[in-house]
Amino acid sequence: MKKIKKILAAVLLSALAIFAVVGCGSQQTGSGKKVLKVGSAIDFAPFEFQDEGETAYQGFDMDLIRAVAKEMGSEAEIQNIGFDGLIPALQAKNIDVIISGMTINDERKQKVGFSDPYYRSGLTMVVRSDEETIKSFKDLKGHKVAVQIGTTSANMVKEMEGVTVTELNTPADCFMELKARGVDAVVNDRPVNDYYIKQSQAVGVKSLEDKLSAEDYGIAMAKDNADLQKKINEALKKLHDNGEYDKIYQKWFGASK
Ligand code: ARG
Repeated sequence: MKKIKKILAAVLLSALAIFAVVGCGSQQTGSGKKVLKVGSAIDFAPFEFQDEGETAYQGFDMDLIRAVAKEMGSEAEIQNIGFDGLIPALQAKNIDVIISGMTINDERKQKVGFSDPYYRSGLTMVVRSDEETIKSFKDLKGHKVAVQIGTTSANMVKEMEGVTVTELNTPADCFMELKARGVDAVVNDRPVNDYYIKQSQAVGVKSLEDKLSAEDYGIAMAKDNADLQKKINEALKKLHDNGEYDKIYQKWFGASK
């Protein structure tokens, strides 16, 4: 009888030990570090993108989330997920957080939690260089507009009267459609439009000054995960305090915030 008890105790102890190592659900890398599973739509330069022939994801968000994970003693493992699939992936617990130039808004707050804002953005338009009639958002009436599916741009434009909306998978698809004259304008986040005009082969298109809204980007996590939310906010604060945020900001946007 005693022997059986001893064996049982031993089995229980080793089971507990395994649990402790696995860390109750949070995975470990080969190096023994915890993994923060990150989802992002890698189609949004300079926030998240992948250069041709490169394996690494790069951009402001990518550097920021890697720094946040590091502060938390984890390592970010980033998955490329289409923008409209990110919140469902979070709800299905396939990922721990989203960083994807995602605007904090009430509609999304019904479904997910957000960190403190980490970047102030807004919406602008890109049109063809020879465009004469569209100068501001109110000129969009009677025109065809492309937006990325699932975005705040899509929501905005769909509410405008007399605008025909084409929802496409990525901003790049939208710009292609604009050049192919399938649409007359692209509505998209200002820094992404600016970067596109500056960095890529944006021949034949221009971005307009008119700004539709002020939007704050946040890192999203499961709605009920107050603990993770707190940890991420603490990490963000630390990165602001120690100058790391500024460094990352300068790397991608030139000036300091
Ligand atoms: N800020 C906009 C939104 O939250 C667009 C974000 C798109 N992000 C991306 N990685 N494609 O709806």
